[in-house]
Amino acid sequence: MRVLGLSGSLRSGSYNTSLLRAAGRLLPPPADLEIYTDLAAVPPYSEDLDLERAHPAVEQLRRAIASADALLIATPEYNSSIPGHLKNAVDWVSRPFPDNVLRRKPVAVIGASTGLFGAVWAQAELRKVLTTLGAAVLDAEVAVPAAHAAFADDGRLRDPRLATALQRTVDELAASQASRAA
Ligand code: FNR
Repeated sequence: MRVLGLSGSLRSGSYNTSLLRAAGRLLPPPADLEIYTDLAAVPPYSEDLDLERAHPAVEQLRRAIASADALLIATPEYNSSIPGHLKNAVDWVSRPFPDNVLRRKPVAVIGASTGLFGAVWAQAELRKVLTTLGAAVLDAEVAVPAAHAAFADDGRLRDPRLATALQRTVDELAASQASRAA
């Protein structure tokens, strides 16, 4: 089983990318996580550019999502909402709407912020958007606050409750794919 990881942060030292890596280590084998690294290449959405053959970066993202068994998205919160480039990428892959690549795709949303609440608003909004597109969005939430202090040197989450919540989420994501395949 191949899980595609999307980080909502383009920052090189991103805590959300760290959270994806921590999640990847917890995925039950044979599932594994591949973190998508080309989100920054996706252009701003325009219907003028949304042609049968879209921008190569868009085509690449659509193919990566279509070929993944499940998606794990770690998002920061920017001004109480979804970071613009992540929403932009979702807007691109939402077309063509009836058979967009997210439809029926198992997706888990997690998030980290340096604030007190762990990007809960951005996560909630992203779940709403993904549900609208027909994705099979897990209810599970992992909200990592004070992200600058949340990770141990080996990359694991320091807080055992958060580590358990992350483990449950990746287990549920793996199981949702298994039940979909059955
Ligand atoms: C933030 N940050 C932030 N944090 C939060 O908890 N709620 C918020 O609304 C915002 N808004 C916000 C806007 C912008 C433009 C930036 C750059 C940052 C802080 C944010 O949580 C922090 O920068 C994280 O470290 C971002 O995640 P990555 O890049 O570490 O994954």
